[in-house]
Amino acid sequence: MILEGLVTTANADGRPHLAPMGAVLENESSEPLQRVLLRPYQTSTTFANLKRTGQAVFHVTDDVLLLARVAVGKVDPLPTVRRSQGVEGWILEDACRWHALRVATIDASQPRAEVQTDVVASGRNRDFFGFNRAKHAVLEAAILATRVNLLPFDEIRGQLDRLAVLVEKTAGPREREAFELLEQFVQQSHDGRPGGAAP
Ligand SMILES: Cc1cc2nc3c(=O)[nH]c(=O)nc-3n(C[C@H](O)[C@H](O)[C@H](O)COP(=O)(O)O)c2cc1C
Repeated sequence: MILEGLVTTANADGRPHLAPMGAVLENESSEPLQRVLLRPYQTSTTFANLKRTGQAVFHVTDDVLLLARVAVGKVDPLPTVRRSQGVEGWILEDACRWHALRVATIDASQPRAEVQTDVVASGRNRDFFGFNRAKHAVLEAAILATRVNLLPFDEIRGQLDRLAVLVEKTAGPREREAFELLEQFVQQSHDGRPGGAAP
C-alpha cells in the first residue's frame, strides 16, 4: 500500500527541503512501522539529498494546502520545522505523524530509484482530520500538477474539472485555496509553454 505524505530531507547547506512523496509500506498495519520504501525520481532534489545524507523524515498530514504549495514550489515561508533528540532530519510541527528514516539500500537502476529505509524513530503530533472528498481531490490535483511536463494539458484539465465538483461540494476554505492554486499553476504552465495560450 502506498501512503502519500510529505518528505523532508536536508539540502547541502543543511536547510530543510520538502517534497510530496508516496511511501510504500511493507505492511500497513505493522505497529510500529519498521521499513519504508521511497521511490523518488533520480532527477529530484529529494533523491540527491537522500543519497548524500542517508536520511529523511516522512510525514502523514491532512494539510492539503501545504501539500499543494509544496507541489507547485510556493512554500515560502517554510512551515515550522524542528529537530528532535536522536533524529537527524527536520520534523514538520503540524504533521499528524512522522517517521524518521535511515537509508538502507538504494537501487538506482531505473529512472525512479528504489530507496529502502529503516524507520529509526516515530512520533505523533495531532489527530488526522479524517475522510474528506475535497482533501482527496486536492491530493489528486497536486499529483496532476507535478505531471504538467508528462501529461497532455487537455487530459489534466479534464481530470481537474471532475475533481472540482468534489471541491465545490465538500471543501473548506483551505481546500478551496489549495485547489485554486493548483489550477492556476497548471494553467500558467500551459500558457508559458510553446504551443500554449500565451503569445
Ligand atoms: C501526493 C504526491 C506524491 C508524489 N509521489 C512521488 C514519488 O513517490 N516519487 C517522485 O519522484 N515524485 C513524487 N511526486 C512528485 C514530486 O513531489 C515532485 O516531482 C517533486 O518536484 C520532486 O521533488 P523534489 O522537490 O525533491 O525535486 C509526488 C507528488 C505528489 C503531489
